[in-house]
Amino acid sequence: MTTRYRVEYALKTHRRDQFIEWVKGLLAVPFVLYSQPTGVFEGQGQRLAVAQEEAHRRYSEILRDVEIMIDDHITHQKEEIPFPSKLKLLVPTIGPFFTRLPLEAAFKYQDRKRYISSRRFVSPSFNDVRLILNSAQIMAVTTYGTLQLATFDGDVTLYEDGQSLEPDSPVIPRLLDLLRKNVRIGIVTAAGYTTADRYYARLHGLLDAVALSTELSPAQKQSLVIMGGEANYLFEFDPTSPHLLAPVPRARWLTPEMASWSDADIVALLDVAEAALRDCVRSLNLPAVLARKDRAVGIVPSPPHARIPRESLEETVLVVQKTLELSVPGRARRVPFCAFNGGRDVFVDIGDKSWGVNVCQRWFGSAGGAGGSGGGTGSMIPAENTLHVGDQFLSAGANDFRARNVGTTAWIANPGETVELLDELADLMGKKLS
Ligand code: IMP
Ligand code: MG
Repeated sequence: MTTRYRVEYALKTHRRDQFIEWVKGLLAVPFVLYSQPTGVFEGQGQRLAVAQEEAHRRYSEILRDVEIMIDDHITHQKEEIPFPSKLKLLVPTIGPFFTRLPLEAAFKYQDRKRYISSRRFVSPSFNDVRLILNSAQIMAVTTYGTLQLATFDGDVTLYEDGQSLEPDSPVIPRLLDLLRKNVRIGIVTAAGYTTADRYYARLHGLLDAVALSTELSPAQKQSLVIMGGEANYLFEFDPTSPHLLAPVPRARWLTPEMASWSDADIVALLDVAEAALRDCVRSLNLPAVLARKDRAVGIVPSPPHARIPRESLEETVLVVQKTLELSVPGRARRVPFCAFNGGRDVFVDIGDKSWGVNVCQRWFGSAGGAGGSGGGTGSMIPAENTLHVGDQFLSAGANDFRARNVGTTAWIANPGETVELLDELADLMGKKLS
């Protein structure tokens, strides 16, 4: 049993999003019953159009039912009903929702784009459902309220893994458009550097474009911050600083809870993580070297072009996470951490993106970005007016997943999808204005 359990856990649970899998399962039933695979050899025509219409109607109905179930779940959340909602019983891992999700409308939008109900051999997929959820989420943040803060992961979301945001990236004009519409932007990346030049190297395309823009007001330009190392280094855009970024001293933005993380606890936690990473490098014979920083420790490929197998990266994350959870500093729970598979490397960071996004919410909420004092207590941008866009959402070792605790999220698979999402968002914001 133990072995079976471990196999299930290691190969399945952390590689699945239970909610998406569940919706996919619901959609599989009408797919089986109404898609017409025989149409291929029985000729096209009327029957296929009817089948497509029928599949569309059934998929829409199912998504409307899920939408209503989410509404009921939100009522449970708000009224603090002690019993689990029906959705919680069906999908035990389901978390909080900050907005309702117009899934039926989102399905109709994605069906027009992806022809989901016209398919006869390929059932509604994981990616179909993920994109329907993204559409529903951005419909919600623009329709039921106003988007005030958009935060973005770096690698894979804004640029390809390990690359930089070059001046010709199609994402740049879209980010400028958001700033022009008075949406605040935080780049919340795990990449942890202590100096502005390193972030400039990764993000120069965007930073130069903001500096050169004649359309943005100084206040709009200041509505851009970089939160690096998940929640460890804050830089604000500043046209007069070297590399266009001014480091903001921690005293100005640490939340009271973050201020209570002691250096001794941080070092103790990173020491345990470092030992566990070293063990993995040895036992899995990884082509990797250790990288220790003041707020993170990781393993990176060595020589730099070496590739650590995906299985080894995942094994390392799970080993390090378990080791930390069971360690003395981990059990004390005084300092939160995030162990994740970065695609080519593994890192353990102090804090996680829920803290990073929360700092942005406070920074802009208390007018820090508009020249005020920033940080501290005061007001903050609420979760339902915040959208975090990232690529890492599978529960174990996925750093963007944590952002779900503090805001709404969109899960993209590559920078191209980010561009599409931003176009969809601009469209919805435009419609709202008109
Ligand atoms: P993100 O996708 O923007 O969150 O960046 C994650 C990637 O940043 C990791 O996969 C690493 O390659 C890189 N990185 C560089 N420094 C750090 C660090 O201190 N902690 C975590 N990741 C880092
Ligand atoms: Mg990423």
